[in-house]
Parts: sequence; structure tokens; C-alpha cells
Amino acid sequence: MPQVIKIEGGHRLSGSIEVSGAKNATVALIPAAILASSVVTIVGIPNIADVASLNELLAYLDVDVQTVETGHIIIDPSHMVNKPLTIDAVSKLRASYYFMGALLGKYHHVTIKMPGGCDLGPRPIDLHIKGFEALGAKVDYHDGTYVLTADKLVGARIFLDFASVGATINIVMAAAMAKGRTYIENAAREPEIIDVITLLNKMGARIHGAGTNVITIDGVERLGGCFHEIIPDRIEAGTFIIMAAAMGQDVRIDNVIPQHLDALLSKLSEMGVRMDIGPDHLTIGAAPFLTAIDVKTMTYPGFATDLQAPLTALLTQAHGRSTVLETIYRQRFNHCEQLRLMGADIDVEAPLASISGPTPMHGAEVRATDLRCGASLVIAGLLAKGVTTIADVHHIDRGYEGLDGKLERLGAHIWREQVD
Ligand code: EPU
Repeated sequence: MPQVIKIEGGHRLSGSIEVSGAKNATVALIPAAILASSVVTIVGIPNIADVASLNELLAYLDVDVQTVETGHIIIDPSHMVNKPLTIDAVSKLRASYYFMGALLGKYHHVTIKMPGGCDLGPRPIDLHIKGFEALGAKVDYHDGTYVLTADKLVGARIFLDFASVGATINIVMAAAMAKGRTYIENAAREPEIIDVITLLNKMGARIHGAGTNVITIDGVERLGGCFHEIIPDRIEAGTFIIMAAAMGQDVRIDNVIPQHLDALLSKLSEMGVRMDIGPDHLTIGAAPFLTAIDVKTMTYPGFATDLQAPLTALLTQAHGRSTVLETIYRQRFNHCEQLRLMGADIDVEAPLASISGPTPMHGAEVRATDLRCGASLVIAGLLAKGVTTIADVHHIDRGYEGLDGKLERLGAHIWREQVD
């Protein structure tokens, strides 16, 4: 039965929470694990719906997956069968496209439905395809299904027109066992990419340049098992940091790599938020006065598009007119309409949103149109007077591990109800 999240706003947050493993690393690490010929153990896997969907895909491919304790999975692909991935689970998330690179790299053949995921406007995968073709794959697309085949994969020089996270990871996976050397130029540099390359190198791959914009992959014949621990989720951390900046009284956020959040922390400091930054934790409190700012989303290390919606909720409380320029997904503004229902004063002329504040927020019935919109509405709900009801919370559950439980521990008045 569908659920709604309800929040009674106005309660201060205090105490500490621990950030989970990075969702956007996890959803690539799991498909990457199937490139191995033996067991891969990963620690720090968040308990989110996207992981359940990926595990469903692994089970369908006869990959043995065991969860020995929370966050600890053992993936054994030694009996895997390369079946067409046309089942419904593929459409439940964007990251199912990582099976393209992984299956192509391992079997030189893959049949897969178009992936699903959040509606953020157009999300083409032409750069992934360009990379696979450069490595020697033939790509057919009919009725929503891709068929990729290659007699052999041979290293190539691939320039990405845009530093796409997904294309970079997918091409790395396809090239890991190709013959010879592949260069990916204008590669994306997000920490999640470094995490995936770290896993592949532990499996025996020879990949250099992770975290820079040129990645070099020397194909190897075989990849083996390994043990890997996931990096913390910088977007979840950022979401809690923003919540604490909105409603916190010295909230401590543990399991953070502060360097991954430099762009957000610098913007919050410009707004007047007080922060105490430790080596792996931060302590944040709400600022008595927030100043309006201008933000532009960019590829890493710029300001993350995934934190744009959460930050916009906070900007409703800043004095003056803030602007948000969205350069990654130029139409990623669905949250603005929902925030307006709660009292926000936001004009959107994509790719620019202008937020005038401060505006008092009030409880309303709103809808999480996508994952980060959901996070933005939770922040607005914490700030609002009265009760906010958020529908379509399955989007939130796709990417935040136990968000409401963590917030309850910090003192938020948040609960779930079943609806018809
Ligand atoms: N793009 C193309 N062609 C391509 C690939 C991308 O034009 O072949 C464009 C996209 O349309 C978009 C831009 O390039 O305008 C960036 O796309 P990118 O490929 O970098 O994003 P992604 O891999 O699809 C991942 C995260 C997103 C996050 C972006 C940007 C996963 C599963 N998703 O998406 O996360 O917003 O990188 O950092 O890792 C989220 O967590 O809420 C989320 C949407």
C-alpha cells in the first residue's frame, strides 16, 4: 500500500547521525562486481530500494547474492548467465544502464531495456553508446530495447562531449577487459567514479587517472574477486547539512568526507551558516540570519545538481533574492512548484530559478516528483508551520536509507501513514 510521510514542522534538530554508503557509487559497484570471475564482497551498501532492484537483476542473471548483515553483501558471479535484461526491474532505476558496460565487457553481448529513473527532463545515453561503438560494439535499438554485440573489444581514444558520470563509468567497465589501451578524455571526476575504479583495480584491472579528466584503461584478460568498502554518500551528507542549517542546534554528522562537499560548504558559509568541520564529521547549527546567494550547478568539484533541490528549500529562508542556475539537467525544477504550494516565492525560467526570501513556509499536501525533490520537501516540512504531507515517497526510499528514522532520532516530528 502506498505511504505518505508527514512532518510537523518547527521542531529543532539536535544530536548526531551517521551517513550511509554512497548511493551513486553503490549502484555502479554492484553491476561492476559481475565482471569478476569469483566472489566480490562489498561493505557499506545502503538499504535503499535501488539496491533491492539491482539485487533482483543479479538474481535474474543467476548471480548469487548474500546479505550477511546490514550493508554487507557478497556477490558471486561464477554461475552467472547472460540473459536479456528486459524484466520490469530494469525500468525501476537509471543505474540499470551499468549492466550495458559490464555485460558487454564480460560477454561481448548484451540485450537490455531502456533504463528508468527520476524524471529530470531529457536523459539521453548517446555518450555511453558512442564509447561502446568506439570500442568495437555494434548497437541496435528497437522498441525500447538495446542490443549491443562485439566480436572483440579493442581499446580506443574516446572524447566525451560532456563529462558524464554514467558514460565514464560504463565505458570504463566495457574497456576493463578490452584488448589494448583505452583513453577516456573529458572524463567525469566525481568521487563515485573513483570508488568504482578502486573496486575494479582491486579486482585486477589496470586503470589510471581516476579523479582526473583523462582515464587510461589497459585491458586485462580476467578480473577476480576482492573486498571493498564504499565511500560515504556526499549527497545524503549534504542533505543533512542543509537540514541542520535550516533547523539544527549543533547537529553532528558522522561518516563524511568533507572535501567531497567543498562546493556546498563554501556556499553555506557565504549564506552565514556556522560549521565546525572535522576530518570525518561536521557539526552544524542554524544561522540566525541567512543571506541570499547565487548558485550554479556543475560537474564535480562544482556544486552538485543533486543538492540543488535541497538547497533551494533553504534559500526560501534567505534574505534577498537568490538564483540557481542548473547547467546539468536544465529542466530539473519540479520541486519548485511543490515548494510554492508551501509558501515559497520562486520564479522558474529554466535553467534559472529565482528565489525571494525569507518566506514563511506552511504545511501542505505535496508530492515527491523525484528523489531530490523529496529531500527538498522534507527540508521545507521541517521549516514549515503545521503538518506537511509528502506523497510518492517511494522516490525518497529509492535513494535515502531510513531518512525519516534518522530525522526522528534528531528530534524531528516525522512519521509515515498508509494511504489508499
Ligand atoms: N548526458 C547526455 N548524454 C549522455 C549522458 C549524459 O547528454 O550520454 C547529459 C545528461 O542528459 C545530463 C548530463 O549529461 O544533462 C549529466 O548526465 P550524467 O551522465 O553525468 O548523469 P547520470 O550518470 O545519468 C548521475 C547520477 C545522478 C546525478 C548525475 C550528475 C547515478 C545513478 N545518477 O546520473 O544522480 O544527478 O550523475 O551528477 O549515478 C540522483 O542521485 O538524484 C541523480 C539523479
